[in-house]
Amino acid sequence: MTAQTGAPLRKVLVIFAHAAPQRSRVNRRLRDAARGVPGVELVDLYETYPDFYIDVAAEQENLADAAALVLVHPVQWYGMPSLLKEWVDAVLVPGWAYGAGATALRGKQFWLVASTGSPLDAYAPGAAHGHPFEAFLPPYRQIAALCGMEWREPHILHGAHQSSQETLDAHVETFAARLGTLAHA
Ligand SMILES: Cc1cc2nc3c(=O)[nH]c(=O)nc-3n(C[C@H](O)[C@H](O)[C@H](O)COP(=O)(O)O)c2cc1C
Repeated sequence: MTAQTGAPLRKVLVIFAHAAPQRSRVNRRLRDAARGVPGVELVDLYETYPDFYIDVAAEQENLADAAALVLVHPVQWYGMPSLLKEWVDAVLVPGWAYGAGATALRGKQFWLVASTGSPLDAYAPGAAHGHPFEAFLPPYRQIAALCGMEWREPHILHGAHQSSQETLDAHVETFAARLGTLAHA
């Protein structure tokens, strides 16, 4: 792939998971913005696999030549939507993604882009969710670490429903810019 400038582009794979994008305020905009960034390939999981039957070989092939893996989703019950968890379970298998001799994902960038319904101050001791938001990230961090991927600072929008239009616009703009940076790194 080559950008208009002639600079080489690296493939950035965005795995998008939203069960009801027609009702989405945040993630649908991220999906649509990602589709316009040169170098980005996006898989809309719920659209591609409505029956939850993931084509593992195709997904592994798509991921193998990407320089970065980006997960985009709303936070659901403190983690990822179920079809994304199924994707992780089915695609990131031992012997390919991790374990003895597995090098498929080594050195790739790993970037989490997520939104929460609750505002950031609900993520604190004594508040509704009892812990800082960072306390819910270790599974993601460890998926990246076990597979030899490099953790990028997550891009999180809290209070998704209440955030102002300006905040949302800025969130989407920063997302697209960082995707572009990943594709040019
Ligand atoms: C099944 C389900 C579980 C959810 N769990 C959480 C949660 O654990 N924490 C939270 O802050 N918001 C939670 N939410 C709210 C979503 O994160 C929020 O609606 C979403 O980030 C908004 O993004 P969207 O406009 O793209 O749909 C949940 C929503 C659903 C449907």
